[in-house]
Amino acid sequence: MPGLSSEWNNEAYVSLHLVQEMLSMAGLPRRSSYSHWYPEFKVKVPKITANGFVKETKKEVDFLIEDLGRYINFLVEVKTADTRIDNDARVQLETYLKYSNTRFGVLIDPYLVEIYQYKELQFSLVSEHTIQNPSQVQPVADFLKSFLEKIKMRTIAIYTTKGGVGKTTLVVNLAYELATQGNRVLVIDLDDQANASLSLGVNKAEEFDNASSLEEFEEIIQSFEERKEVFEFITNYKLPSFNYKDYIYSSKLNNILNQTNSYGKVDILPSSFKTRNVENLPLGHLPQKFLDKALRQSGIAQDYDYAIIDTPPSSTLSVINGLYAAQYVVIPSQMEYFSVYGIINPISFTKTVREEAENRAFILGIVPMMTESKVILHSNMKKIVAQRYPHLRIFQEIKRAIAVGKASQDRLPLSLYAEQNTGAGDVKKQFSILTKEILSEIHKRENSIGR
Ligand SMILES: Nc1ncnc2c1ncn2[C@@H]1O[C@H](COP(=O)(O)OP(=O)(O)O)[C@@H](O)[C@H]1O
Ligand SMILES: [Mg+2]
Repeated sequence: MPGLSSEWNNEAYVSLHLVQEMLSMAGLPRRSSYSHWYPEFKVKVPKITANGFVKETKKEVDFLIEDLGRYINFLVEVKTADTRIDNDARVQLETYLKYSNTRFGVLIDPYLVEIYQYKELQFSLVSEHTIQNPSQVQPVADFLKSFLEKIKMRTIAIYTTKGGVGKTTLVVNLAYELATQGNRVLVIDLDDQANASLSLGVNKAEEFDNASSLEEFEEIIQSFEERKEVFEFITNYKLPSFNYKDYIYSSKLNNILNQTNSYGKVDILPSSFKTRNVENLPLGHLPQKFLDKALRQSGIAQDYDYAIIDTPPSSTLSVINGLYAAQYVVIPSQMEYFSVYGIINPISFTKTVREEAENRAFILGIVPMMTESKVILHSNMKKIVAQRYPHLRIFQEIKRAIAVGKASQDRLPLSLYAEQNTGAGDVKKQFSILTKEILSEIHKRENSIGR
């Protein structure tokens, strides 16, 4: 091992010149709208005393880093050239990850970076990097950055206060389009009408259709009572036994996506009538942030590239949960007088969330839904919206498609239906253009804030 100057034996020196530099250069400055450092972060570790009692001791980890942009947090332990990363350090990190309920931990000394994951009681090395020269931080920062890129998740809420404008249609189609491009997508259904869950095939649509007696109907309802879904997800996340996988179901689109050679998938965190209970959560516990916290703490981000959140047409607690968890918001609107007027509500409502939560509820733009090219009103309305909200992007419109009734009946994404039925017009093309535009708007935003 080549010798380094004795400064590298000093932890404060390593922290300042290597670790803190690395974090900043990897896009995680000490304090910004999308990252926070918590130095000397305290973790309560239970210890069994000589007489058999369990006592909690407070341990300090060098840093807890919160990365709101990528939806993850991780611990950092700094070692030095003469007290290098060793098994004791690894065992200690495992303990810290376990008791702080944090998924990832970084061990770093002037020669080496190791990234560990603590998941389902298993502690494992997920990535490592040999440092050639600790005075040259850029390669180390690049290593961390590319690791974070791999495990980040973006959250997009589809939201407007009006019903029947095509929110759920947009959610399902956007999810499908992203998945066909190889993305792992999680749909989060916050609407107690649960249309997204129905259309993605996890809410017993066929059973309901075929139920002919009250008993059969009640039996189906009962099966929802027992199922873990979005309501349980946001109320159980603090339980020690919490495992997000118990709340997530594979959508029926995966049967189709599996036939292509891509990694893309659409999973769903489903809803049912139980989601109405969100409204009764005690206000003292900041229930408006439960979904956000559950997503952050569960480590779900490493399994998905995008979470698309479907919301009910209201301003209720479940909507607020969706907005606090959404980095981005897309507003669908029909181009008719009252619908256009209805854009004002979601815009002002998201503003409150933006002011209170950092890096959340940024509006990407408006999607004109169910437009008809022959209707002059629609094109006039588009002009009015563009004038009224000059900074908001108006995305590719989704035209009213004749065959859409059939697609809804079959509970298929319009674009998938259009792939299989020529009568469905070019909705497939519209949704794929729209998806590209939304992604480009996200990249623009991320570049502008230095990501
Ligand atoms: N482009 C379209 N052309 C025709 N009908 C559509 C289109 N998009 C959505 N719909 C239909 O409009 C109705 C409302 O859409 P939905 O997505 O459920 O709205 P929301 O979630 O806002 O209540 C559904 O029956 C859906 O099939
Ligand atoms: Mg809906």
